[in-house]
Amino acid sequence: MDTASGLGSRKAETLVDPECDCHGAVLGPLVLDSMHVGPKSNRRAIWLTWPDVWVTVGDHEDGCVPILQGLTGFAQPGEVLAIMGPSGCGKSTLLDALAGRLDSKRRLSGQILVNGRKEPLAYGTSAYVTQDDVLTSTLTVKEAVYFSAQLQLPDTMTPSEKKQRAEATIKEMGLHDAAGTRIGGWGNKGLSNGQRRRVSICMEILTRPKLLFLDEPTSGLDSAASYYVMRRIVGLAKQHDMTVLASVHQPSSEVFGLFHKLCLLSQGRTVYFGPSSNAPEFFSLNGFRCPSLQNPSDHYLRTINTDFDEDIDPGLGGKPRTQEVIKVLAESYKSSSCYRHIQQQIEDIHEMVS
Ligand SMILES: Nc1ncnc2c1ncn2[C@@H]1O[C@H](COP(=O)(O)OP(=O)(O)OP(=O)(O)O)[C@@H](O)[C@H]1O
Ligand SMILES: [Mg+2]
Repeated sequence: MDTASGLGSRKAETLVDPECDCHGAVLGPLVLDSMHVGPKSNRRAIWLTWPDVWVTVGDHEDGCVPILQGLTGFAQPGEVLAIMGPSGCGKSTLLDALAGRLDSKRRLSGQILVNGRKEPLAYGTSAYVTQDDVLTSTLTVKEAVYFSAQLQLPDTMTPSEKKQRAEATIKEMGLHDAAGTRIGGWGNKGLSNGQRRRVSICMEILTRPKLLFLDEPTSGLDSAASYYVMRRIVGLAKQHDMTVLASVHQPSSEVFGLFHKLCLLSQGRTVYFGPSSNAPEFFSLNGFRCPSLQNPSDHYLRTINTDFDEDIDPGLGGKPRTQEVIKVLAESYKSSSCYRHIQQQIEDIHEMVS
């Protein structure tokens, strides 16, 4: 059985190796492709970078508690970045910080750059689907999406084009059968939770925003619905050069396979950031190989979830405490060539867009 100490020694010989496969994937043709040399070069695509972001709560008197600890990453046009981790690890906080939506209790330090510059996003450039659905309970799905289309879409579109966009988006989210159903709310049953989730997504993707934040877009959806919704979002990202960041809980292997990059957090620290296809290698090199036939996301989350540590029987093969595992993985990531290449890539992005 793997141990935390065994893990540490393997890290040194493997992850610092300059020939690590991560290089090709991180700096490979995908990025050059997305630099929009050619017909797409004049579009307002968004490169979002965050070289070292901290978020704390509390004040100097009571003491500051860090929620996010020095996170580094980027999101690029045409791709979906999945933010994963156990409940309470900081997924929503990271999305809030990147979207400029932190409340006054949470303090941000570090830079978040849009196309290499520290500037607010232009109106209508970004959209955010929050973790909790905020919808008007008295409207039907069709009314809510139609009104939203009429209000949000530009005047250059005719009312019938806006209606068509609304209809198409309702279909894309698999809501055509529920189009006439009232959204409903407390004491006024209407849509199911999964349907409400999809209405929220509908309202925000209507405008095809260049930057899209999705907090748990698939919660309440079964695996088939999650797959179709995420596949559509990935398709939109590619088609419209959208930069998408989505926090996700327990994606199925099919959904996980749709993500381009993975940001795996635990207790506010990065355990892994990079191409999602390289995550199995990272875990494997550190002594936590994903068993065959197991969903990789289940494996990652089980490896780094501390919430149920007391349920682990200490007599079962000396399994390392999750806290140690997280420490080793987070330190291994910080000293890996993957991390250095992410930093290098952020510098390249800044140079490219300036
Ligand atoms: N205003 C606040 N004051 C104190 N602690 C906070 C505050 N906001 C968030 N936190 C803490 O920060 C941590 C991260 O919260 P966050 O909501 O980002 O987690 P999450 O990963 O999105 O969780 P979930 O998967 O359950 O949505 C949690 O431990 C939470 O209790
Ligand atoms: Mg959350």
